[in-house]
Amino acid sequence: MSSHGAPIPMTSRACGALTGTAQVPGDKSISHRSLILGAMSVGETTITGLLEGQDVLDTARAMRAFGAEVTDHGGGSWSVYGVGVGGFAEPDQVIDCGNSGTGVRLIMGCMATSPISATFTGDASLNGRPMARVTDPLALFGTQSVGRSGGRLPMTIVGAAEPVPVRYVVPVPSAQVKSAVLLAGLNAPGKTVVIETEATRDHTERMLAGFGAEITTEITDEGRVITLTGQPELKAQHIDVPRDPSSAAFPVCAALIVPGSDVLVPNIGLNPTRAGLFTTLREMGADLTYENEREEGGEPVADLRARFSPDLKGIEVPAERAASMIDEYPVLSVVAAFASGKTHMPGVKELRVKESDRIDAMKVGLEANGITVEDGSDWWTVTGLGHGNVPGGATCASHLDHRIAMSFLVLGMATQRPVSVDDGGPIATSFPIFEPLMGGLGAAITRSNG
Ligand code: S3P
Repeated sequence: MSSHGAPIPMTSRACGALTGTAQVPGDKSISHRSLILGAMSVGETTITGLLEGQDVLDTARAMRAFGAEVTDHGGGSWSVYGVGVGGFAEPDQVIDCGNSGTGVRLIMGCMATSPISATFTGDASLNGRPMARVTDPLALFGTQSVGRSGGRLPMTIVGAAEPVPVRYVVPVPSAQVKSAVLLAGLNAPGKTVVIETEATRDHTERMLAGFGAEITTEITDEGRVITLTGQPELKAQHIDVPRDPSSAAFPVCAALIVPGSDVLVPNIGLNPTRAGLFTTLREMGADLTYENEREEGGEPVADLRARFSPDLKGIEVPAERAASMIDEYPVLSVVAAFASGKTHMPGVKELRVKESDRIDAMKVGLEANGITVEDGSDWWTVTGLGHGNVPGGATCASHLDHRIAMSFLVLGMATQRPVSVDDGGPIATSFPIFEPLMGGLGAAITRSNG
């Protein structure tokens, strides 16, 4: 089932060379944070290039429910009149975050130190995901939570009326957990300290600094020690959301496996906490270049150029790179199927608690299409068959997971027989223009089995 409506079966067939320019949508992580930090600021935050995927639209609706004035001006241009740190109103309805783990976890954090309660729910995928990773540290501030067994949604959060600042070592590599604690720390007096032993995406830290918070990051023997001074007055900003490297991954990987392809994907943020996939692809022998490298808003940015790569080789992906490419493993496993030799991907336990168990979802679907996959609790290995040799022919379950659906549709662009997904509906959560964008490059994706 699609998260919003009936399932949308889709089929992808081998196509001619993919060519042209792929203008992928705005970054999902930065889009959520723009709305949330805008809502916690004083004055009017203006946003251009916002990702208008369902996940982000659900966060916009949630910010309205907490009292912010959020306006869609069309074409990715939005504004948010914030209520200031500690100024949230209590919502009078349940907050439905749809499919979005980032949305629900960050919003729980940002309301957790205000004297209000809110009840959160989501779709079947989100309601199966672990929330204790967020509610455990929030309890240290004095926040209470009551959810279903296993710390799952629906869940009510009772914000701390008199929060205390916390010092918290994040036990799993998760930017969502780190961000939830930092956002909660905004309305606690004194200094909240978050320590991560593995670096995860640092958009929250960068953006908090941009909104005027006092926040520092020190690299110590303990790891990255992030110190936030509570109760700042956040000042409204203009944010130009960069394009999403996680969405860029799909046209880039498609171009590498479809013979003759040459695709330009402009303006992609190459923040080192996000760019691990591109490093990995280059190590595999991908013809992937960075053109027009520059800095924008303090972030490294480049135009990516991906061409068909006839000599891809399987590699060992370093475990310590996992956090910087955590959302890209599904589509990497597709590229690995067209490489020669094995691609081994260790250190990826977190993949099991994403929108789906992504190792399992990809393993079942890849095997149905003739590719050998081995896995353990925190690793998996794909044995590549080389270009032209991947059978295809199967229908894969997308498990309410946008990245699983898009990965299998990329697979079908270069297999001997078409590849189908049972439901492409979830693609709209992060990449609503995926079908026309890929079609514009020359891909053959249709909305039915057959
Ligand atoms: C995100 C963090 C990651 C990532 C998700 C977006 C974020 O999740 O998978 O798509 O914006 O903070 P985890 O924090 O669970 O690793």
